[in-house]
Amino acid sequence: MAFPEQVRIVEVGPRDGLQNEPGEIIPTAIKVELINRLADAGLSYVESASFVSPKWVPQMGDAHEVLAGIQRKPGVTYAALTPNLKGLEGAIAAGADEVAVFSAASEAFTRKNINCSIKESLERFAPVIEMAQENGIRVRGYVSTVLGCPYDGEIAPQQVAAVCADMRAMGCYEISLGDTVGVGTPLKAKRMLEAVSREVPMEQLAAHFHDTYGQALANLYAVIEEGVAVVDTSVAGLGGCPYAKGASGNVATEDVLYMLNGLGIKTGIDIEKLVATSHWITRQLGRSNGSKVALAMGCE
Ligand code: HMG
Ligand code: MG
Repeated sequence: MAFPEQVRIVEVGPRDGLQNEPGEIIPTAIKVELINRLADAGLSYVESASFVSPKWVPQMGDAHEVLAGIQRKPGVTYAALTPNLKGLEGAIAAGADEVAVFSAASEAFTRKNINCSIKESLERFAPVIEMAQENGIRVRGYVSTVLGCPYDGEIAPQQVAAVCADMRAMGCYEISLGDTVGVGTPLKAKRMLEAVSREVPMEQLAAHFHDTYGQALANLYAVIEEGVAVVDTSVAGLGGCPYAKGASGNVATEDVLYMLNGLGIKTGIDIEKLVATSHWITRQLGRSNGSKVALAMGCE
């Protein structure tokens, strides 16, 4: 066993979490307060917005206002998703510190999510990455459906590895491996990681596991044991994916933090403040809390 001393948590709740909230559009002020509270709890990386088409994802339509409204805490990276040049231009104008492009290991999911093939998505990212780099902005890459696809079913690890290798070669500094529908299990996660890490060094990989089947913590333990030291999580387990029916949120930040604390792995996050934020946001959204740790620790 070779657990890392430290794990960097990438908080995706304000983006991956809120993008999927049904019903009314969440007021900008709530999004802004959520991001501020997360930074105050010690999260050093908050994916805060998404510059995608508001026709496709209405909840992210106020990305500019969200980034303009937050109180920037020194040392915190406020990032945004950018599927194309239009998105990148918006992210630069709003002052995003970092951006992320996103494709998938499955053709069908890519088509549903961003309306093109995997190859076309990569072609679309080339000028996005180039322009971001010219502006001194680092680009993260997401690869979805790494452990299974809601449309194509099983995905071969080699297929995942090939897309990851392409995105890295194009200039993504880190590749986040998305179990978009949360169908993976630990051994499968290890096998996928083994194939990917032959193409992309372990220190450039992140795990982005949704918890639909309740396997995310176990899957994370499996990949952290292999050396992954960057983990994407969502406060209160908020979210899902609008283009993956039935998918539930990312693994809850609180639950991952509790596990990492138990393993003696440092994160710099204050669990009390995080849990308070978790209860606050679920109250604002009128939804139940997806974090067992938040429920166990109770409200403030
Ligand atoms: P398209 O319809 O093929 O593109 O969409 P288009 O270029 O023909 O544009 C259509 C309209 O969208 C035009 O407006 C554009 O101006 C506008 P119209 O002329 O009809 O009024 N448009 C934009 N507006 C704002 N910002 C933009 C933008 N681009 C075009 N950046 C497109 C292609 C990629 C835009 C669309 O498919 C899209 O926005 N998809 C977003 C899907 C999405 O956000 N999915 C969720 C995030 S990914 C995820 O959750 C997975 C992840 O968490 C990892 C995991 O879990 O696996 C990351
Ligand atoms: Mg996701």
